[in-house]
Amino acid sequence: MEKSTSYGNVSVAIIMDGNGRWATVRGLPRLAGHRAGAVAVRRIVEAASDLGIGALTLYAFSSDNWKRPSVEVGGLMQLFRTYLIDEMPGCIRHGIRLEVIGRRDRLDPALIATIEEVERQTRGGRNLRLRIAVDYSARESILRAASQTIADRPISPDEFSDLLGNGGNVDLLIRTGGEQRLSDFLLWESAYAELVFTRRMWPDFTREDLASALGEFTGRERRFGGLRCQEVVPAGGV
Ligand code: FPP
Repeated sequence: MEKSTSYGNVSVAIIMDGNGRWATVRGLPRLAGHRAGAVAVRRIVEAASDLGIGALTLYAFSSDNWKRPSVEVGGLMQLFRTYLIDEMPGCIRHGIRLEVIGRRDRLDPALIATIEEVERQTRGGRNLRLRIAVDYSARESILRAASQTIADRPISPDEFSDLLGNGGNVDLLIRTGGEQRLSDFLLWESAYAELVFTRRMWPDFTREDLASALGEFTGRERRFGGLRCQEVVPAGGV
């Protein structure tokens, strides 16, 4: 894939949905779908890096996912840890700064230690800012930040974004798996995100699918509540 820097300011977020269905139609256990999902994560991170995307945030485990059977939750946690351990050298080599967003207090100590190590080792990465959301809930993140604000002082949206600590505005939000909802992911940050929904199950999501979503994003006119360029009227007249 061509190296490009044109997406350097673009922040992409992905709701990686469809692992379970991908496995079920193949007669496999759900965890096999998640393992295939982890392979897709590697592929898409590499593609994002090649495309010169500035930031990529992946929804790996929502705070509501604790409701799933313990075998699935345990398997997912193991997958995250293995992924972080295996990918750390590549992240360092390719200038990828990896961070994990979400609550940490309910994670296994071994996973927390691995997360901290990867974050420390990749801190110098300047190419791609990769964030993986684990035990993440946008509502909870907003409530936590809101409770830290000083009630008698007005706070700007940018200051609030900093308090949230999730990476700021999302430009393009992609959801695989055919559903069309946000599922408590980056609600504040996606206020003006362009949304792309695809029926492709996450394990099948390819570099070409990512490039195509970016192409769709580029073709959209973003007005942020303003007017289309040709509708802007000269001073004095509406
Ligand atoms: C949603 O699909 C997916 C998840 C809850 C887990 C996401 C995990 C991965 C993509 C693999 C590992 C990730 C990393 C970062 C190494 P689902 O299980 O709800 O699918 P379904 O809707 O078809 O049941």
